[in-house]
Amino acid sequence: MKIINVVGARPNFMKIAPIHNLMLKSKKIQPILVHTGQHYDEKMSKVFFIDLKMPMPDIYLNVGSGSHAVQTAKIMVEFEKVCLEQKPDMVLVVGDVNSTVACTLVAVKLGIKCVHVESGLRSFDRRMPEEINRLMTDVVSDYLFVSEESGMTNLKNEGVPKSKVFHVGNVMIDSLVNHIKSADRSKIMKELGVKKEEFCLVTLHRPSNVDDTKNAKILVDTLKTVSKQLKVVFPIHPRTLKNFEAMGILKGFTDNENIKLTDPLGYLDFMKLMKESRFLLTDSGGIQEETTYLGKPCLTLRENTERPSTVTQGTNILIKELDKKLILKHIKDILDGRVKKGTVPKYWDGKTAQRIIKILEKSQK
Ligand code: UD1
Repeated sequence: MKIINVVGARPNFMKIAPIHNLMLKSKKIQPILVHTGQHYDEKMSKVFFIDLKMPMPDIYLNVGSGSHAVQTAKIMVEFEKVCLEQKPDMVLVVGDVNSTVACTLVAVKLGIKCVHVESGLRSFDRRMPEEINRLMTDVVSDYLFVSEESGMTNLKNEGVPKSKVFHVGNVMIDSLVNHIKSADRSKIMKELGVKKEEFCLVTLHRPSNVDDTKNAKILVDTLKTVSKQLKVVFPIHPRTLKNFEAMGILKGFTDNENIKLTDPLGYLDFMKLMKESRFLLTDSGGIQEETTYLGKPCLTLRENTERPSTVTQGTNILIKELDKKLILKHIKDILDGRVKKGTVPKYWDGKTAQRIIKILEKSQK
């Protein structure tokens, strides 16, 4: 059975790695790794192949950045050529980025079976491009692999037949389990001059936070205040840096010795920092889950989350309003020891890729 595994953007790599690496050992599956090139900077892409010990892509589409329409369309044009040439039995996509939906649309129209890993998550906020990508991908997929209970409920409510849906757990946690020991050997703390629990780790890249000057200013100002109490490590996404520079709001930020602004970091360095930080401040999807697994306090700057188990069971707190006082209040709670305790959701155990592959292998007649 020939399966094309698709990666495109940074959050895809840690989800595909355990699946692709395990498929390479399967006697029944011949996996092919296709990289769309949605993320292309070495620090947003190549480093993850090295850190996650994943072979370099078999096929690279080199599509690059663009508006949503341009990017999605370019991926579709290039990916269709790949499917026509390779004639795969299945196309497997992960997550909710533009590459996910683009490749699924191509595959389904060519009559190729579609597999969506991390299916069923919903923020119920259609202003988010990722929500559109999730909905569109799920509606045409044949195998829907779900990471948390809410996904099962959402798909049921949308009328997806039960026979297509499998609660297999969180494949990103497989990567975390597989690599947490190697992450311990990272030298990043020394390089940045930070000590265990004496810093917070920040990531911000969502359009709602970093495209709007008013919101971006609030965030930069809040981080400056936080830096008076503890060090701030901020590996900055290229779009965030570009925006902040254009807005002219980096004064007192880049030249602040308590704020460690770095390029995007590799997987192992980031894991290490996440594990050793006091808490995280983020708008990422995946980090909400990784912190829940690690039992680390996470403050998420978003109005909603498509990963509600991180809030109901895990250590995640949503800060729904971009308000400096409110953010600082939550940070004070953590620094004063009022920390939210959590549990790890079902099947977040490092064995999700095994479960997925078993189901796919069984599907072969
Ligand atoms: C994408 C995903 C988002 C995910 C995020 C993680 C979609 C709709 N969004 O958002 O869900 O959380 O990745 O990083 O797919 N850029 C570079 N170098 C790169 C890649 C991007 O400089 O390697 C810059 C470009 O200016 C580009 C911008 O970042 O225009 C945005 O990139 P894009 O892939 O469109 O979306 P992300 O914001 O990265």
